[in-house]
Amino acid sequence: MLNSYLDVGIQSRINRIISPKDNRTVMLAIDHPYFQGPTTGLHDMSKTIKMLMPYCDCLMTTRGAVRHNISADVLGSKPIMLRVTGGNSVLFEELSDERITVTIKEAIRMDAAGVAVSVFIGSPNQQRTILNLTDMINEAEEYGIPVLAVTAVGKTMARDLRYLALASRICQDAGARIIKTYYCDEFDKLVKACAPTPVVVAGGKHSSAPEALEMAYKSVQAGAVGVDMGRNIFQDDNPIGMIKAVRAVVHDNMTPKEAMDIYQSCAGEACKLE
Ligand code: R5P
Repeated sequence: MLNSYLDVGIQSRINRIISPKDNRTVMLAIDHPYFQGPTTGLHDMSKTIKMLMPYCDCLMTTRGAVRHNISADVLGSKPIMLRVTGGNSVLFEELSDERITVTIKEAIRMDAAGVAVSVFIGSPNQQRTILNLTDMINEAEEYGIPVLAVTAVGKTMARDLRYLALASRICQDAGARIIKTYYCDEFDKLVKACAPTPVVVAGGKHSSAPEALEMAYKSVQAGAVGVDMGRNIFQDDNPIGMIKAVRAVVHDNMTPKEAMDIYQSCAGEACKLE
């Protein structure tokens, strides 16, 4: 397609986040302290990022991490998906009361390839968070920055097709360029409901390497463009083995069993992150 038909800046940045070669991505989610403070695997966030950044396609993280936890020698080596909403903590039962916390100018100054906004559909703050999304889209698109919408589920929301497809489709309709959601049964229906907007899947709580790889495999086979995975990588006993195995599932269509061979082959040099 000729460039003149494209929204060039947006597409160029999306190409940095999702490989145009295979339309897939392994995003590494390291944004957890924004609402839960000290997090297992991220107590030395600089070390975690330095160890895992070479293996991801894009790092999803926060302003604080970009400022303080990405060493100068690797800064700029991978695109950043900058989280730009927050305002709550795990100390409060209701997590949905978020606001935009980072301006689009700051995101541009930090060379963000995209910005991420959480929406809490069905929560008491549903409208506020959808408007956070649309406000950020209205601003970011002026500068050619794609917005990724995170369908946050809080502590109580169901993770079934009905809920997740509803939340994801609302994000697409709002104008999100990438949607991040959770895997569920009949996931292909969610992907179709949001097409052609790319969908990435969050990892969720740390489970086990085979389970997380199975989830990643089912997601991409159902049409997701990849994962935006955090705890199942950096909280694993073998984080490098895990991210390499996830890459194999996402980019090479390896089965979880085949990918486990890659995981095991790195076990000797495994280094658990604190
Ligand atoms: C979700 O709202 C945040 O972006 C999370 O920090 C991220 O989704 C967590 O990734 P994971 O569930 O794979 O640890």
